[in-house]
Amino acid sequence: MIRVVLRRCLQVTRTKLLTLCICVTIVCLLLFSLVPNTPYRDGRFYTFSPTTFKSSAAEGEGGREATGKPKLRFFKQVAGHDIFLYSAIANSREPEEGELNIIITAFDSTETDSLQCCAVMKGKTLFTAPATIFHKYYIEDILGPFLEKFKNSQTRAKQYACVVPELGIDVSHVTLTASSCPVREEEYLPVIFPKSVPQGLALCAKSAFGDGLDPNKLMEWFEVQRLLGVDHIQLMDLNNPEPVQKVFRYYKDMGLLNPLPYELPGPPYHRGLDQPHWVPQQASHDETFSILDCKQRLRGYSYVMGHDMDEVLMPAQHVSIKDLIKEQLMLRPDAAGFYFYTQFFIYDWGPINKKTDISYFGYLNSTLPRNECKKYVYLMSRVVQARTHSFFSRSPYQQYFIPMKDAILHHYRKCPAHVWKTCDPPKMTDRSMLRFQGQLEKGLEKARQAIGIRPTAS
Ligand SMILES: *[C@@H]1O[C@H](CO)[C@@H](O)[C@H](O)[C@H]1NC(C)=O
Repeated sequence: MIRVVLRRCLQVTRTKLLTLCICVTIVCLLLFSLVPNTPYRDGRFYTFSPTTFKSSAAEGEGGREATGKPKLRFFKQVAGHDIFLYSAIANSREPEEGELNIIITAFDSTETDSLQCCAVMKGKTLFTAPATIFHKYYIEDILGPFLEKFKNSQTRAKQYACVVPELGIDVSHVTLTASSCPVREEEYLPVIFPKSVPQGLALCAKSAFGDGLDPNKLMEWFEVQRLLGVDHIQLMDLNNPEPVQKVFRYYKDMGLLNPLPYELPGPPYHRGLDQPHWVPQQASHDETFSILDCKQRLRGYSYVMGHDMDEVLMPAQHVSIKDLIKEQLMLRPDAAGFYFYTQFFIYDWGPINKKTDISYFGYLNSTLPRNECKKYVYLMSRVVQARTHSFFSRSPYQQYFIPMKDAILHHYRKCPAHVWKTCDPPKMTDRSMLRFQGQLEKGLEKARQAIGIRPTAS
């Protein structure tokens, strides 16, 4: 009897032991698989074995929804921190001359500045180094840094730099971490190496967000940019409706436009750039974010213009904007870039010419030139950073206004009644746009047919 009990007891113990052994083995295996997750030391190379499984994506979604945070579609989040990484763009000039510098453009809702860079080379070697702050955006106001403290900008546009020794030129992926480098490849950003376009002219059109973007006017705008000799247009696409997407696709397929989908992560959640979702101060970060990205992405271009999809730079005598820039540079060889005066063409006034369905040819009346909402063109190599209405030049380069007789920025819009004292200021009639009459009609007709959108006869 005792023997039987003893045997049974032993059997139970054996099963338990077996279970224990299996458990220990599993734990050991798990620990081994997590070995690359131990903290790395700076400036060293490690073997990197990325895993590409996507199992945690689904559970993450459920959890996020519950807290009211929308799921990220276009950003990588730094684990455990409200820091959202969008792009990683390489250069060999700054912050360290001759090294491989990777500038990461991000939204940051934290006060953290100390993060580690994790750079993957040839998919198998990991390099780590402290990330440095490349640029912190402050709202465009003399009181900017002060307003930041007391007003509503919870999530800031910010850029980090990862400097990899020059020998690491084959870096393919990078990310930032506050603890240890992630092992999953999907948590890394692919590194972009901008292509060089000597004498190229690019336009950074900031962010398109659908609020009042009329696909017909948009087509006119793209066609005019082509006629003005713009080589490339960069913009961020924030939830634009299908008709606008159709226009984007047409100009993307043509090789003119690179529309980058993005979102606005971090608090305040569910914000936008259109009126109902617009958050003062915060919106300044949300828009400037795309300009910071442009400055890196357009590195290969010699000249970069910054203006929106309701603005057109019209050189007075020269058809091409490049000719205008070259002429101005001969007069001002130390220029880092130029600002323009603006004429406002106000839709509320009604068109002068009612017979055309091209709004640029109908709305020929404008205000006199003003120094308001100024925009610019800059030389990539002579400028440190840009924002909506200004840029910062490298020493010893200077900033100049292009005289109004040489070029004017046309700004097409409704009367900004909340800013102007009157919607009926002195007017002038400016027919400079008519120089494009034949060509614009032709290009636009082709676009309208291909896209399947045209103005409705009224
Ligand atoms: C357009 O401007 C001219 C002045 O150049 C003015 O006489 C005319 O009334 C304006 N027309 C409209 C529709 O604003």
